[in-house]
Amino acid sequence: MGVIGVGRGINFALGAQHAGMKLVALCDVWKEKLKEAARRFPGVGTYTDYDRFLKHDMDAVVLANFFHEHAPFAVKALDAGLHVMSETSACKTPAEGVALARAVERSKRIYMLAENYCYMAYIQEMRRLYQAGAIGEFQMGECEYMHPMLAREMAAISPGINHWRNWIPPIYYNTHALAPIMFITGTRPVCVNARGVPGSPADPERFWTRRADIGFHILCAMDNRAVTVVNGISYRGHGNWYRVHGTRGLMENLRAHGEQGKLRVTHERYDLRPGEVLEKIYTPEFPMHADLAARAGHGGGDFFTNYHFAEAIRSGRQPFLDVYRALDMTLVGILGWRSCLQNGAPVDIPDFRKESVRKRYENDHGSPFPEDAGPGQPPSSILGFIEPSRENLRKARQVWRKLGYRGT
Ligand SMILES: NC(=O)c1ccc[n+]([C@@H]2O[C@H](COP(=O)([O-])OP(=O)(O)OC[C@H]3O[C@@H](n4cnc5c(N)ncnc54)[C@H](O)[C@@H]3O)[C@@H](O)[C@H]2O)c1
Repeated sequence: MGVIGVGRGINFALGAQHAGMKLVALCDVWKEKLKEAARRFPGVGTYTDYDRFLKHDMDAVVLANFFHEHAPFAVKALDAGLHVMSETSACKTPAEGVALARAVERSKRIYMLAENYCYMAYIQEMRRLYQAGAIGEFQMGECEYMHPMLAREMAAISPGINHWRNWIPPIYYNTHALAPIMFITGTRPVCVNARGVPGSPADPERFWTRRADIGFHILCAMDNRAVTVVNGISYRGHGNWYRVHGTRGLMENLRAHGEQGKLRVTHERYDLRPGEVLEKIYTPEFPMHADLAARAGHGGGDFFTNYHFAEAIRSGRQPFLDVYRALDMTLVGILGWRSCLQNGAPVDIPDFRKESVRKRYENDHGSPFPEDAGPGQPPSSILGFIEPSRENLRKARQVWRKLGYRGT
């Protein structure tokens, strides 16, 4: 397999062998970074041009390039006969999502979204319990992914005034929260009401060159009539939390620092079945490959994404995080942002499994990213189009220069 994007992409490169894959090529337009990365993988082909990279003798590619540029890169790889694992998210616009679904169907190749938060040990255990009927039918879910950081740290991973991290409405990054709920319950989102929260001038760590907000909140109707509340992303209080209420019980991971790998399962007295207790709190094990998972990043998730991708290729069966579920989540972000801009008005999430539905979105190019700016395009903040101050730009540029970034 080959990897494009040697930032986050290095994790896939390092873990490939543990999933039975061999890394053979790396691609990045940032020459210095590519050179540095290549030193860790002797004998691996290096490319700065994606089209040339695709011609390398390999079966699969992992897309860890810019967040909002995955879909066209995926379509090219699929059309070249390669299997694709794509980092979040699947696409930038509904039109790209339509093209991606069609490309997967046309190519008959494997497509997987690399949503690693589904594979923490406690999430895999929640899925097992749910499928075993431990809490009955899913009625209400809550999930959150919070990742605050210092303004300086954010500047260091957002080099360039038009870097995607400076423009992305946080709701586009909902997958680390929502995906595990879909994975546990097997449901899909059908309609959203969403709200955004802008950064506060009172926050000393407000991101310097961000044009987008810091928070999102989604009321997400699922296809079994359950509701999931999805929260994120840069508020103080780092962590992940998932809670699932069913018709005969509740399960959630704990929230305190150091305890988030623990699972809590509760029942009402009147729901108890033989062998069940009112409340059980424990640290679940991985269902398989615990030794490899324990050494991988993101609570083992970085091992299992590579593993399930490789397994899908070996078996010829699409993985759970297939193109349709990838698009379900991605569309929650894209269309949820439209809800945010309309004061939380309901917006349906189309099912791109159906060509008749896709047809309605094949020309929908709505996007808040700068390369698409123009009449009718949405801003990145609920406050409208925000310009960073000159002082903040100056501070960010100092950080970017130290990284070796030479653009604006
Ligand atoms: N699942 C997770 O836990 C997790 C964690 C971090 C990042 N990510 C995702 O991984 C992806 C990459 O994240 P990152 O932090 O490394 O982003 P980044 O913007 O820092 O890096 C992207 C890399 O891709 C390269 N690139 C961009 N366009 C290219 C092109 N046309 N040809 C070749 N190389 C190109 C860039 O030079 C850069 O090195 C994003 O989608 C992000 O959301 C996921």
